[in-house]
Amino acid sequence: MNNFIKHFLSCTPINAINTLMSKEIDSFVDLEKQREILESTVNSDLIKKYPIKKSYQRAFLKWFMNKIEEKDQEIYDGIYTAYCNLVSLTLDESSHYRHFLMGSDCISIKESINIISDGTTGLISWQGAIELAEWCKENRIALSGKIVLELGCGVGLTGLSVIKKCSPKKYIFTDCHKSVLDMVSENVQLNLLHENVRFDSRLRLQLKYNCTDVQVMNLKWEDVDEYVKEKWDVPDVIIGADILYDTDSFYTLISALKTFFSLDSGYAIIAATIRNVDTISQFLHQLEERNLCFEECTIPRQTIQTQLINSPSKIFKIFQGT
Ligand SMILES: C[S@@+](CC[C@H](N)C(=O)[O-])C[C@H]1O[C@@H](n2cnc3c(N)ncnc32)[C@H](O)[C@@H]1O
Repeated sequence: MNNFIKHFLSCTPINAINTLMSKEIDSFVDLEKQREILESTVNSDLIKKYPIKKSYQRAFLKWFMNKIEEKDQEIYDGIYTAYCNLVSLTLDESSHYRHFLMGSDCISIKESINIISDGTTGLISWQGAIELAEWCKENRIALSGKIVLELGCGVGLTGLSVIKKCSPKKYIFTDCHKSVLDMVSENVQLNLLHENVRFDSRLRLQLKYNCTDVQVMNLKWEDVDEYVKEKWDVPDVIIGADILYDTDSFYTLISALKTFFSLDSGYAIIAATIRNVDTISQFLHQLEERNLCFEECTIPRQTIQTQLINSPSKIFKIFQGT
């Protein structure tokens, strides 16, 4: 049942749930199991406090009722009531939450309902963020006690997972879009709640979580030279998820990496969802042209679950050649 609930909480597309849960669904259709599922999903305290989008909750219950009927079972009354309540609501949300269960931790992410909003793609969690979080979890020793800087952090799923699972010495979330920085700051506070929070103009947010110093920072890839001049921390490891979509940005991104590598940053780990093979090939080609090396990393087994889309992903380790 846990997988079923995990899929709901992270808003796995209903057609994917249908495929992933096809074998297990038989064990969820008796009345008591239906009640348990309802109370752990739509009626749970978590969803009441931090709701996932209403249209998704509605579609989930509708799909579940269809499955129960297909199995010739009676539908639990509470499911009808919850469904009718959802149908009667007007759907005027611009943001919602998704919840990612990772072992004993639950990371709650506030994000936009729309893929592009406020002129940015950074207000939702992308598939690369999940893949990169998984890679980091499997390679936690490489990040433990290190200064980790994330480029184009979006709403913060990867970083929050790294902070909770890998105990870095310092984690620096960076992005350049105001609404994204506002949203990631909100998510950092939601998940790492701490009273000792400091704000300033470049440094949007600073707090301590267990042994990790956490910062949210306004950093454009174009401005990494300035970051270095201002003597901000040089990261040991740079990470980034789904930041390889715009070929026009590759030059500045690679320049930023080169600047960090020239200052003893060890390497970068970049996760990319492959929507267009040519785009990724162009990036790798430009890395070679500018004397950076790369190798492809093994994609970890999915433990957070949730494939947002069916595009393959790749993870690259990028470093300065000798
Ligand atoms: C597709 S989103 C990915 C967000 C997040 N990493 C994820 O996977 O969910 C790309 C992010 O890169 C950021 N970005 C794009 N160009 C940038 C630049 N030149 N400097 C800093 N951030 C940039 C955007 O603001 C956006 O948040």
